[in-house]
Amino acid sequence: MDDKLEYLWTFFRRYGDIYRVRMPSSETDTYVINDPAAVKQVLVSNHRNYTKGIGIDRVKILLGNGIMVSEGELWKRQRRMIQPCFQRAVIERFCSQFHNRSLELVGQWSRLAACGEPVNITAEMSRFTLQIILDAVFSTDLERLSQDTVGNPFHIITSESGRDLRFAVKFRALVPVVAGLIEQRRREGSEYFDFLSMLMAARDRDTGAPMDERQLIDEVLTLVVAGHETTASALNWVWYLLSMHPDAEERLHQEVDSRECPEKPLLDDLFTSSYAEQVIREALRLYPPGWLFTRRAIAHDRLGDYEVPPGTDIFISPYLLHRHPAHWPDADAFRPERFEPEVARSRERYVYIPFVAGPRHCVGESFAMAEMLILLRVAARRFRLRMAGSQTVELDAGVNLRTRHPLFMQLQPR
Ligand code: HEM
Repeated sequence: MDDKLEYLWTFFRRYGDIYRVRMPSSETDTYVINDPAAVKQVLVSNHRNYTKGIGIDRVKILLGNGIMVSEGELWKRQRRMIQPCFQRAVIERFCSQFHNRSLELVGQWSRLAACGEPVNITAEMSRFTLQIILDAVFSTDLERLSQDTVGNPFHIITSESGRDLRFAVKFRALVPVVAGLIEQRRREGSEYFDFLSMLMAARDRDTGAPMDERQLIDEVLTLVVAGHETTASALNWVWYLLSMHPDAEERLHQEVDSRECPEKPLLDDLFTSSYAEQVIREALRLYPPGWLFTRRAIAHDRLGDYEVPPGTDIFISPYLLHRHPAHWPDADAFRPERFEPEVARSRERYVYIPFVAGPRHCVGESFAMAEMLILLRVAARRFRLRMAGSQTVELDAGVNLRTRHPLFMQLQPR
């Protein structure tokens, strides 16, 4: 297990649901909370008292002042302007694109399967989810961008695995690329159905003003990053878990074989008591891409028996919460049935937060779920995936919870 996760577990076993860590390098304390009532207080009931905190500093270098990192009035305004991009009707229109890209991937897999070589599924999922989010953000302009810059300039996101300062510098070099595209769209006045166009047209409810250019670019880059890596890790884990649990895989196959797989998938149909959804939600429980997030207290608060002075950092780990022995029987076992509607309803709400909760919950949840469900439906109809040879699967708890090494799988046509 990754050292960071090991520490979290050791301290949880020793100190329980809420404990305080005093860092020698810091004058303020840090609390780690694994108690659903305290989690609710920080994320929902008293959320106004908390900013994002220490964990977000690294992200800032990458995403500037985009919605993931902004606070206060700026965040509120931006959230109001971005939220309409994720309305039901918009996502439903994107679903056809998800379907087409899934078919394209399965076509490529058929050719690879014919060669019998194992396939790097981690890289495949990274490429797939990048393509999906770039389609959604730039639609047909992506081709134009690729021609202007000799190849897709966003490919550094998949070709570079590090998420350090070096990567941030290269990533920020995309700022002028996006600025050029915005300028071109303004000049030409053409219409597009994509996030960039929606964000360019968005107006502040109170002042009627559009986003300034810098903010617009930061939001575009935020959507690309936020929409790509989390979904890629989640899908990587989904395929891994299915390959290790043939019974669950068999049940999924029965479901996908018995249902229509329309070119224009409808959200209602996608989310109607599907086993595929339960599989994805269970994978997100065991391996939440956002395995740790942080908040910082603005004013005094009290969590259980503990005083929380201003400036205190709070760590919340979905990885721990999702395996909390008091809330999840046989917590390490992969059991999609935990997400059958009745079972899920009977559970404490704040022990499952892969998309966080409260006002700062993931704005892209439905987008991500629809994308993953459609891929699962299309690909599981055609293939069974099996781990190739003997591979040790290790966790890498970096910005996202990933596999330390790429997973190679054999694609078995069904
Ligand atoms: C399986 C996929 C995904 C997971 C597990 C996930 C998880 C999360 C989490 C945990 C946060 C909150 C972080 C924090 O509070 O510190 C978040 C925020 C966010 N996510 Fe996602 N996400 C996923 C997919 C997406 C997609 C596809 C998009 C966009 C297309 C997206 C856009 C965002 C944005 C913009 C925020 C910031 C929201 C705000 O602060 O108001 N996410 N996500």
